[in-house]
Amino acid sequence: MKEMKTVVIYGSTTGTTEAVAQDVAGELGAVAIAAADADAMALDGCNFLVLGASMWGMGDLQDDMADFISRFESMDVTATCGAVFGLGDQVGFSDSFVDGIADMAGALAGKGLNLVGDWPADGYAFSASRAQDGTHFSGLALDQDNEPEKTADRIVAWVLQLKKEVQW
Ligand SMILES: Cc1cc2nc3c(=O)[nH]c(=O)nc-3n(C[C@H](O)[C@H](O)[C@H](O)COP(=O)(O)O)c2cc1C
Repeated sequence: MKEMKTVVIYGSTTGTTEAVAQDVAGELGAVAIAAADADAMALDGCNFLVLGASMWGMGDLQDDMADFISRFESMDVTATCGAVFGLGDQVGFSDSFVDGIADMAGALAGKGLNLVGDWPADGYAFSASRAQDGTHFSGLALDQDNEPEKTADRIVAWVLQLKKEVQW
């Protein structure tokens, strides 16, 4: 078992993603930090970086996470692995369901992190998503608006998958 310092950074406008991020962090034994507060110090010594956010507008990443990603591009990053999760509404925003997962995944990959934790898209009912790559999303998709009862099990299964993929 490796010594793994994991940091979860979340962007949440009305608090839904914040609550989910606390659960994800709990499963990972990590701390959860609001994207608005996340600076280079917060990432110091981090090996495994998890980003999570909701979607606003039409497939836009939540504002605090979008701002974090702009800052992240010029930060020194020690993490070698990363994963992302996104919250969306597959009924109300069926054409842009969890689109911003793609932006978070792109930001991590752009900094050279090895992205783990892709997630099957077949358990959802939506029309289109930028986050979908073939049969999978590039991270965990959660929908607290329409299927909150599935979230806890999805988080547990995803975190197990992450630990296997990074050989924790
Ligand atoms: C105005 C508005 C726009 C939204 N746009 C999207 C969207 O494009 N794609 C999506 O999957 N969900 C979308 N959502 C759903 C939110 O991402 C979802 O409700 C989320 O749980 C909010 O989390 P938060 O409270 O952490 O910000 C939208 C919700 C609202 C109210």
